[in-house]
Amino acid sequence: MADMMDMEGTNGRRVLLCVSGCIAAYKACEVLRGLQKAGCDVKVVLTEAACEFVGPTTFEALSGHEVAVDLFDYGPSAIPHIQLSDWADLILVCPATANVVAKASQGIADDCLTSTLLAATSPILFAPAMNVRMWQNAATRANVETLEARGIVFVMPASGRLACGDIGEGKLAEVETIVDRALSMLDATQSLAGRHVLVTAGPTHEPVDPVRFLANASSGKMGFEIARAARRSGAHVTLVCGPVSLPDPCGVDVIHVTTAAEMLEASSEAFQSCDAAVLAAAVADYTPTNPSDHKLKKRDEALDSIPLTRTKDILATLSKTKGERVVIGFAAETNDLVENAREKLTTKGCDLIIANDVSREDSTFGSDTDAVTIVSTDGAEELPTLSKREVAERIVEMVSKMIAAKGDATC
Ligand code: CTP
Repeated sequence: MADMMDMEGTNGRRVLLCVSGCIAAYKACEVLRGLQKAGCDVKVVLTEAACEFVGPTTFEALSGHEVAVDLFDYGPSAIPHIQLSDWADLILVCPATANVVAKASQGIADDCLTSTLLAATSPILFAPAMNVRMWQNAATRANVETLEARGIVFVMPASGRLACGDIGEGKLAEVETIVDRALSMLDATQSLAGRHVLVTAGPTHEPVDPVRFLANASSGKMGFEIARAARRSGAHVTLVCGPVSLPDPCGVDVIHVTTAAEMLEASSEAFQSCDAAVLAAAVADYTPTNPSDHKLKKRDEALDSIPLTRTKDILATLSKTKGERVVIGFAAETNDLVENAREKLTTKGCDLIIANDVSREDSTFGSDTDAVTIVSTDGAEELPTLSKREVAERIVEMVSKMIAAKGDATC
């Protein structure tokens, strides 16, 4: 079934509702409606056991999206656990059975729901429901503690008469309590809601002839992580990327380009409606002056030179007209990191430079980590070696604060 619902009518907040097998599964329908009324777009994952209580048809009709149950049978994607966990701004497990709590605490991923939880990077909220003895069992207590220690949030079950007739703790919390908690978690992570952020990523390819080009070793990973982090913070993101072998991030407008000139054109257009731009692309500084329209044949003698022309600097061009926009650039350096970054800050006219020492193994092109120094007119702050995802989150946090500060200054 194709998705019936687009983002119209939602405020861009995406909740993945994971329902496990418990009599309280019917309450998940009310939770879904409550989230939709608050403007959220909701997709649903069910365990096989949940289907015994409320079937996928009900959740499909309510959510307007195909429901994922089977890891190997989900129309919109061959890898539902990755695609759905990537899509979500918040994952809500409601009701969460003792079994799902246990599996999540141990990192077991033996179905679509638990695999999605293991692949998740967005905040997770559990709303457990089970028999009082199961809830109070030392194993469940330890599992809840483990998950809380990892930052997973719980809406604790209420006390009352349970489906089995027992009286005690284990009743799913009130629907409104669960919805409110989900919304407050979403608000806490939506620092860029209503903002438009432009990100550039990857290398550019400058043609020499139809089969050859000048390029560099940029993987595009940093820019893609920034685009994802900005999206998770609620921004509308336009990602202009050169040739990379990465899948398009979910929920982001991706414009694929090849050359520096194309990147400049696409970025300049998107910049018009932006609040911030983070230019992480490793744009070629030179392009062949007269690219051949046919394949160049080799000759016996040496090829002494290929005439090259300077490309236009996208960062400097956008910075000239930035007005109140926040503009952040990168500097890939092998020596004199801070001095070179300071010079770029001045000559290119942006607000910040993220300086990256690409001579280090933990910070080079293609690595999954970066050791960056943030250079502004106020000074330089060296960050420890972090994953690219963490660096991206720090950058997006700075973007949010800088946009807020500029807003305050103009008030
Ligand atoms: N940049 C750009 N357009 C270019 C070249 C670079 O927008 N034509 C941007 C990059 O996206 C990055 C910053 O400028 O944000 C710094 O790029 P870098 O390659 O480190 O510096 P260069 O200006 O190219 O200088 P050099 O190669 O001399 O270090």
